[in-house]
Amino acid sequence: MAMESPFKADVLKGKVALLTGGGSGIGYEISYQLGLHGASVAIMGRRQNILESAVASLQSHGIPAIGLEGDVRKREDASRIVESTVKHFGKLDILVNAAAGNFLVAAEDLSPNGFRTVMDIDSVGTFTMCHEALKYLKKGGPGKDLSNGGTIINISATLHYTATWYQIHASAAKAAVDSITRSLALEWGTDYDIRVNGIAPGPIGDTAGLNKLAPEEMRSKDGEGMALFKLGEKWDVAMAALYLASDAGKYVNGTTLVVDGGEYLSQPRILSKEAVKQLSRVVERRSRAAPAGIPKSKL
Ligand code: COA
Repeated sequence: MAMESPFKADVLKGKVALLTGGGSGIGYEISYQLGLHGASVAIMGRRQNILESAVASLQSHGIPAIGLEGDVRKREDASRIVESTVKHFGKLDILVNAAAGNFLVAAEDLSPNGFRTVMDIDSVGTFTMCHEALKYLKKGGPGKDLSNGGTIINISATLHYTATWYQIHASAAKAAVDSITRSLALEWGTDYDIRVNGIAPGPIGDTAGLNKLAPEEMRSKDGEGMALFKLGEKWDVAMAALYLASDAGKYVNGTTLVVDGGEYLSQPRILSKEAVKQLSRVVERRSRAAPAGIPKSKL
């Protein structure tokens, strides 16, 4: 059960947000939380039925919401949806790029088209949406005053910090997303007062990502040795989005906030803490008494 938000209910009062992939999973939860905190919300997705039920759900919580059908891989869809959002709500303050594609496949079994498909959705799609939204997000843009630009949040991952089995496509795509985040933060932060940041969620329960990338069949029963044992909640990611989208994050630009409970740092523990305590001094004495790697003639 998600906790109550620690943010004030009006931190995004009067703001307008557009979210790709906003109809389900992490994208929906961010839409919901931005809406609960005062934003009007446009959600973009490929499936009309999913959009309709998401919009109905948002509206049932009193959130002004519209659903716009489209694919981030098509520039004309991106352009039409940004325009429709502004036409409906009068302006655009927040763009969240949450649309993504992924599946498990060994690199040798992945076709170049499969690789390209994920790059197209995650990386090119993110750039396309940012590019189409720029004229509305910049300070002094339509519906904006001269002092404040809008903000962009790109949903990323931690896959590429090291290397992740069977996700060469998504790892490459999210590495590009992080790079886009930094480049736009630099160029658009300087020129247009637009803050551009990312969020890298770890394993989050009740998401397509978890179901596709760590299906039941692959999870150990007791979580032994698995960071996945401790799943995050969609709420955790949405709170990070609220922080970045609100004035709480007004000096944060060009960073990707990892929301994974430290999962990406985890390695299997080779010894218990007790064993380390017992062994460490013994090993130290042995090492001093007989240093390794020193030529015999010097001893
Ligand atoms: N293993 C290997 N290759 C796969 C694959 C799989 N599980 N799923 C798709 N592909 C390949 C296809 O074979 C095709 O390549 P080819 O033309 O060389 O055969 C290519 O990827 C495109 O597949 P297609 O089904 O035409 O793409 P799509 O546009 O209909 O769907 C996906 C896009 C594949 C990314 C789909 O999984 C999707 O829509 N995902 C969105 C939701 C999601 O994944 N969320 C998880 C976020 S973590």
